[in-house]
Amino acid sequence: MKLHPEQARPHDVANGLDLLRRAALSEKDVAERWGHYFVVREDDGRVVGVAGLEVHGEDGLLRSVAVDEDYRGQGLGAALVEAALERAATLGLSTVYLLTTDARDYFAHRGFADCPREEASPAIGASWEFTTGCPATAAFMKRSVPRG
Ligand SMILES: CC(C)(COP(=O)(O)OP(=O)(O)OC[C@H]1O[C@@H](n2cnc3c(N)ncnc32)[C@H](O)[C@@H]1OP(=O)(O)O)[C@@H](O)C(=O)NCCC(=O)NCCS
Repeated sequence: MKLHPEQARPHDVANGLDLLRRAALSEKDVAERWGHYFVVREDDGRVVGVAGLEVHGEDGLLRSVAVDEDYRGQGLGAALVEAALERAATLGLSTVYLLTTDARDYFAHRGFADCPREEASPAIGASWEFTTGCPATAAFMKRSVPRG
């Protein structure tokens, strides 16, 4: 694959936030947590894919998964999810959770399973996405972190 996920750099933030806006995803706290974000960069530096991992205690929260409309359907979203999961493994996290309103089936195909909200750890349950960012109707999903 020519294009692939890379560690996000500080100068990608503005482009990354722009992509999130276009995908109707929240920018809340993204810049502050950019250290565990990944981007797909075009040759000219434009960010055409993004995904982030938030660390909450022993668990991770996958968020901000977005691919530019012109670049969808070529596996970039899947590669971004894998990059975030690999980071979770590197950090020794045990489980990665996510909340999604529109892409439940997409993540089900990526190994995530529906999870009762009551199963959220206190740290995940206290996250902004869980308490405020995503509606109560959003799917809550989890996937064990692969051990290297
Ligand atoms: C979801 C998203 C990241 C997928 O990116 P992508 O690079 O096109 O994904 P991939 O190439 O890895 O996978 C494409 C496959 O997923 C399917 N797919 C894409 N979005 C989907 C969705 N919301 N629900 C179910 N399936 C979806 C496509 O139909 C395609 O299926 P196919 O392989 O059978 O043809 C992209 O559509 C996007 O940015 N959506 C808007 C933001 C969003 O909803 N993000 C998820 C919540 S955080």
